[in-house]
Amino acid sequence: MKLLITAGPTREHLDPVRFLSNRSTGKMGFAVAQAAAERGHSVTLVAGPVSLPTPAGVARVDVVSALDMLAAVEKLLPDQDALVMSAAVADWRPKCTSAHKLKKSGMNPLLELEPNPDILKTIRPSKGKRLFVGFAAETGDPLAEAQRKLVSKGLDLIVANDVTQPDAGFAVDTNRVTLLSNDEPTVVLPLQSKLDVGRTIVRWLENHFRP
Ligand code: PMT
Repeated sequence: MKLLITAGPTREHLDPVRFLSNRSTGKMGFAVAQAAAERGHSVTLVAGPVSLPTPAGVARVDVVSALDMLAAVEKLLPDQDALVMSAAVADWRPKCTSAHKLKKSGMNPLLELEPNPDILKTIRPSKGKRLFVGFAAETGDPLAEAQRKLVSKGLDLIVANDVTQPDAGFAVDTNRVTLLSNDEPTVVLPLQSKLDVGRTIVRWLENHFRP
């Protein structure tokens, strides 16, 4: 299979030294990429700004903002069999970005934002037979929100993680996830390494891919 995987945060710059972002380190997405490469799949990883080494055998494209990530995914998708969106894409970006460092004295204390495109919803018309896997990072009711996103984003599988737990979600090496798909029972996985979560996702893709 040819797999496109996104990982890490995006950065939405206000000026060359300031940005809006989130706590994603890329560990989850890099683990999926490693698991897929270990199984012999052709893997392209679109990574936001992270400090992780590229897993062996994986092709990597580095991006900064959500718009960069969208452009990279749109360019690479036609040649792929499946997409795994584990990146934590910023939903908002500053309305204005300065090419020069903003002076404290001249800064407006009210930050004006505009929405970023939803990458999954934007590329949905090009899905075809490809398998799309999303993640849901939740702090409220993880399963209800994940179920809503599975449908609204046109996904085949969504991996729900409750990011309020200290040993799951952002920045740690372990995760506790639940897999929701359209026509199969929900699978609750115990706490395990992100690499093992990645291996489970890759197995799911192998079982559902129809060339
Ligand atoms: O990187 P780590 O430190 O290892 O942390 C892992 C993780 C917590 C970031 C990861 O497990 C995770 O949950 N990633 C998805 C985070 C997220 O953005 O969730 P969401 O519920 O906001 O988005 C739902 C889905 O839509 C995701 O697949 C996301 O990639 C996608 N999305 C979101 C926003 C947007 N503008 N476009 C999108 O396509």
